[in-house]
Amino acid sequence: MSDGADIKPWRAVALTLFPEMFPGTLGQSLAGQALEDGLWSMDTVDIRSFATDKHRTVDDTPFGGGVGMVMRPDIVDRAVCDAKAGSAGDLPLIYMTPRGRPLTQARVRELAEGPGVAVLCGRYEGVDQRVLDAHGAEEVSVGDYVLSGGELAALIMIDACVRLIPGVMGSDLSHAEESFEEGLLEYPLYTRPQDWEGRTVPDILLSGHHAKIRAWRHEQAEAITRERRPDMWEAYEAAKRDEN
Ligand code: ADE
Repeated sequence: MSDGADIKPWRAVALTLFPEMFPGTLGQSLAGQALEDGLWSMDTVDIRSFATDKHRTVDDTPFGGGVGMVMRPDIVDRAVCDAKAGSAGDLPLIYMTPRGRPLTQARVRELAEGPGVAVLCGRYEGVDQRVLDAHGAEEVSVGDYVLSGGELAALIMIDACVRLIPGVMGSDLSHAEESFEEGLLEYPLYTRPQDWEGRTVPDILLSGHHAKIRAWRHEQAEAITRERRPDMWEAYEAAKRDEN
């Protein structure tokens, strides 16, 4: 049995109150084609199906007071156990929350190299902490802003992973993430027409001097990183100091 049929594709399992949001945009373009081709799979677990009362309640008011509602640990636990008993048994459980550690390209690469992800998507104010602790969920944020639920955040994280699965991007695997892993933002890009409404392309890019072009792009990447991302710039400079 070595015809490839026994190789499991990368798997995403979303635990959510809105299963119809998946695969969403990931059903389109290269990720969508790869999904169709079986290079990865997308399953959902409907958290509401684990509610037991006649109103199918999944949330309750926060102990200690405060605004909004909190997703109940007993119901979320049943959804997580169901996922683990099914296709998510060997997958890391990730809870999308603005309180999480920021998602990085390095973490995305690790996740993409593993068997897949089980992603818990919160709604309302979030999920009771005890069920996250009980299952050792990794809390991940996609940025310092608050979305109306974890589903879009999950789609962002899954997208970042899927594009790294061998075969998904074809030969299009871009330099962008290498650039990120070098610790710099990407340099600016130009294509035809060479003169667009009086705006021209930097001469150096037309020169054919590959070494000079490389140097120019590196300078641009440094300048943009210094200006836009002082945090990345500091880390980049510190890493360079350590090299020397
Ligand atoms: N849920 C709501 N906002 C979020 C964010 N910024 N990152 C991850 N999950 C979220």
